[in-house]
Amino acid sequence: MKDHNLNDKVIVITGGAGLIGRAFVQGCAEKGARVIIADVDEKEGQRLVKDVKGKTGNNEIIFIRCDINNKDNIDGLIKAVIMKYGVIDALVNNAYPRNRNYGKRFEDVRYEDFCENININLGGLFLVTKEIADVMKKQKKGNIINIASIYGVFAPDFEVYKGTKMTMPIEYSAIKGAVVNMTRYLASYLGKYNIRVNAISPGGVFNNQPPGFVKRYSKKVVLGNRMAGTDDICGVLAFLLSDQAGYITGQNIIVDGGWSL
Ligand SMILES: NC(=O)c1ccc[n+]([C@@H]2O[C@H](COP(=O)([O-])OP(=O)(O)OC[C@H]3O[C@@H](n4cnc5c(N)ncnc54)[C@H](O)[C@@H]3O)[C@@H](O)[C@H]2O)c1
Repeated sequence: MKDHNLNDKVIVITGGAGLIGRAFVQGCAEKGARVIIADVDEKEGQRLVKDVKGKTGNNEIIFIRCDINNKDNIDGLIKAVIMKYGVIDALVNNAYPRNRNYGKRFEDVRYEDFCENININLGGLFLVTKEIADVMKKQKKGNIINIASIYGVFAPDFEVYKGTKMTMPIEYSAIKGAVVNMTRYLASYLGKYNIRVNAISPGGVFNNQPPGFVKRYSKKVVLGNRMAGTDDICGVLAFLLSDQAGYITGQNIIVDGGWSL
C-alpha cells in the first residue's frame, strides 16, 4: 500500500491563514509536508507559522504574502518557492476573497457586487491555478485541490437562516458550482501532464454562528447532529494530497456528515 504521509511534499495553501486554512496548514505540517501559506493576511500568517512550528516541530512552514488576484504576487510566490524547494507538488485553492457588500439576500445583491465577487473569488482561483499549473506542466507532475462547498452542488435551505442576519448569497452558489465543474475541466485538460485535480466540498463549519442557526443546520446532519469542525475536513485533504490518491482525478468529495442525504 502506498504511503499516507506527506513527507517533504511542497504544498501551497491559498487562504492558509483563515479558519479552515489554519487546520490544513497544521494537518499538512503534522504529516511532514513543506507548507507555504499564501495569504493576504500577513499578521495572522506570521503568527500561524510560529504556532504550527511550535506545535508540530516541523520547521518547513513559511508565509508568503500573496493576493490571488495579483499576477505579480503570484509570480513572486512561484519564484520564491521554486528558489527554495525547486518544485511545487501541490496547490490547495482555499482562499475566500469577497468584497465588503458580500453576503446579502438575493433581493439586495447589486449587479456590480455580484460581478466583483465572482471576479475576485472565481477569477482569483483561475489565475493562481493557471500560473501554478504552468510550473506543474514543466515538472510533469502536480496535484491541485479546490475547496468548493455543499452549496456548489445543492441548494441552500433558507429556513436555517431565519431570525439571523445571515444568508447564503447567490454568488457563492455560482462560484462554488463553477469550482466543482472547473475541477472536472482541469482534471481532463491537465491529466496528460500527470497533474491530478480534485475538489472537496465541506458542509457548514462551526464558527460561533448564532445558536438558532447552529441548531437548525445541525438537525439535518446525520452524523452527530452537529456542524463540521475544521479537523473533519483535514483527513480528506491529506488523502487527496497523498500518493494513495494517485489514481483519483476530477472528483468532488462531499464532507458534510450526511447533511445532503
Ligand atoms: N467556513 C465554512 O463553513 C465553509 C464551508 C464550505 C466551504 N468553505 C470554503 O473553505 C474555504 C476557506 O473558508 P474559511 O471559512 O476558512 O474562510 P476565512 O475567511 O476564514 O479564510 C479565508 C482566507 O482567505 C484569505 N484571502 C482572502 N482574500 C484573499 C486573496 N485575494 N488572496 C489570498 N488570500 C485571500 C483571507 O485572508 C483568509 O485568511 C473557502 O473557499 C470557503 O468557501 C468554507
